[in-house]
Amino acid sequence: MDTQWPEGRGSGEGLGSACPQMQQRHHTQISLPPAIAMSDVLISPPIPKVLPTPARPIRLGILASGNGSNMAAIAAAIAAGQLQATLEVVIYNNPGAKVAARAAEYGIPAVLLNHREFASREALDAAIIDTLTAHGVNWVVMAGWMRRVTQVLIDAFPRQMLNIHPSLLPSFPGVRAVDQAIAAGVKVAGCTVHHVELAVDSGPTIMQAVVPVLPKDTATTLQARIQQQEHRIYPAAIAIAAAAPSFHAR
Ligand code: GRF
Repeated sequence: MDTQWPEGRGSGEGLGSACPQMQQRHHTQISLPPAIAMSDVLISPPIPKVLPTPARPIRLGILASGNGSNMAAIAAAIAAGQLQATLEVVIYNNPGAKVAARAAEYGIPAVLLNHREFASREALDAAIIDTLTAHGVNWVVMAGWMRRVTQVLIDAFPRQMLNIHPSLLPSFPGVRAVDQAIAAGVKVAGCTVHHVELAVDSGPTIMQAVVPVLPKDTATTLQARIQQQEHRIYPAAIAIAAAAPSFHAR
């Protein structure tokens, strides 16, 4: 388990190799820390070697708006026997979203509920509930779902609804979280899996992964580093939440 950042593991990505101007300016004033490898992350709580057995069968419904890489990571963890769950349905809201094709690769039904065709957020959420219920879903997983959810949906799946966000919440909620992190100049970033409450990107935390922000990072490179960890923690966080759903509720 890579739960700490060891010194001296060079990948060529450290301060010394990154920003020539800064390097020149500070060259004689500070001694630069050793390079930090891209693989150096802190995950808390640590991912168990064997994911816990669910208290009852996990029947997942995934809500996604875009690429679906988290959906694919969850589906792969199920297929590999790591996550004891079934993925019953993927709901997506953008026609042409890549997640539909990715769901098809795993033989998972994908249902388009285009938010533009609903009169209100509540009406969309009511249709989502109908679809999830029709597929026997008991855990809802938001994986890049770019719509605000209403209390209607939250009440239908009390403490059985999770989200992943590409920041160390409560920092940088909302859209463009990685851009926010870059703009703020933070030195670590990461991702959070949490229970869903009404306020955007709020609710008790289940698991977080921390990654370094390197001086040469752009939103694109940092996003990629964070996403690698999203794919690791989401299946584990689902298993942990379903094994002890009240454990993290405060
Ligand atoms: C992820 O970065 C997730 O944290 C955010 O939206 C992105 C979805 O990516 N909520 P993908 O569609 O799973 O590839």
